[in-house]
Amino acid sequence: MHDFDAACTPQAKRLAIDRTTHAFHYSLYAQPDLPTRPAGVNLIEGKLTDVVQFLDELSGIENPPAIQQTDAERRAHFTAFPHPASCLLPPAFPLVAICVRTRINEINDLIAAECEQLTGGRPDAEGVAMCRTVEHIHRAAYVRTGLRRIAQAPTFADLLDGLHQTALDLDDFRVDTLYLSGRFPMARQEAAVLVADALPYRANVAAPRHRLLLVAQRRTFWLGEILAEASQSYAPHLGKPHHVSSSLEARIARALVNLVAPPARTLIDPCCGAGSILLEAAALGLTAYGADRNPKMAHMAQRNLLYFAYPPRVVCADARVWAQTADALVTDVPYGRQLESAEEDLPAILANGARLAPLAVYVAGSDITSQLAAAGYGDIEVLRLVKPNGFTRYVHRARVTET
Ligand SMILES: C[S@@+](CC[C@H](N)C(=O)[O-])C[C@H]1O[C@@H](n2cnc3c(N)ncnc32)[C@H](O)[C@@H]1O
Repeated sequence: MHDFDAACTPQAKRLAIDRTTHAFHYSLYAQPDLPTRPAGVNLIEGKLTDVVQFLDELSGIENPPAIQQTDAERRAHFTAFPHPASCLLPPAFPLVAICVRTRINEINDLIAAECEQLTGGRPDAEGVAMCRTVEHIHRAAYVRTGLRRIAQAPTFADLLDGLHQTALDLDDFRVDTLYLSGRFPMARQEAAVLVADALPYRANVAAPRHRLLLVAQRRTFWLGEILAEASQSYAPHLGKPHHVSSSLEARIARALVNLVAPPARTLIDPCCGAGSILLEAAALGLTAYGADRNPKMAHMAQRNLLYFAYPPRVVCADARVWAQTADALVTDVPYGRQLESAEEDLPAILANGARLAPLAVYVAGSDITSQLAAAGYGDIEVLRLVKPNGFTRYVHRARVTET
């Protein structure tokens, strides 16, 4: 209410209303048919649909496209995501994703790109992203947790003070800790106990309904409720029965598929080798097709897919002329020693790929941006994968811009 009074322009008033609407949604979305608890500083009481309509009328003007899009995404999120029963008043950026951090920086580009694709937020140097959604985090290779931020403060003492004043419903909680950077001079267990003591709710370590995470960053301390976690469903594929020295690691292959899906539902890998990319795509429910011109490799990919009970949609075919189309192409083109025999094939492989799928991810041993452009691709993004031994691979994500 105060924000609304203080707002001087129609846009500022609309934002104040929008924030109130969000607070209201978050307070009640688990129980849409009940009268509201006081939300937006006791502004309105009523049923969800009535209050939303009232707020729309109050704004008196049609929302601009950006707000309409946010609303649509939020509606999809509420429908798709199993939500906790808590009544949380959200801070300005309620959803946060936390990415894994590697000791060496070899895959940071890929981690950031996967996080942005799956959550809508790009991680900072500590691997933390303010995001739009956490609903896809279960499929991630390198994004590990999605949270709703409950409280935040510049020091741990301020955070504890703030927690004393919270008016949320967090009975049956458990607190874990994550120290992201800097030296926080307190044992994790001790910090978790202090947070638990500061919260005016009942703890339940053995069977928590609310899993809270204390996150210590270089300049901030915050407490979030865990809403989503990566399932690591790529991990069983580490044990695939057939592989060769050029096979991609399952986790990297998973991240590559996540660069295009969602939205892609069908995927092709025209140089599929032992099928690492096809396995990840199949595990995520995509319809995945593979080809390799070496019959031994095509059979390996088939057997690997069958081993995990995925449909073995693999043929022995030449990527320069293969005709299978899909929403997206993800492949690891021949390079290094293989490239010596196949280097002259690359332009034809790319040109045919551009005919088969509008969106593509190509892994190569060098930057092939100019060849991609010559094949009709645009919007080319290059991510570097530096292996500990210094060998660098280049991941190119590109869209077909010429037909
Ligand atoms: C880098 S490997 C792919 C490895 C694969 N991603 C894996 O994880 O096992 C490249 C593959 O491309 C295949 N290849 C080379 N030229 C090809 C062509 N013109 N058409 C189809 N496959 C080709 C090779 O037989 C090889 O299996």
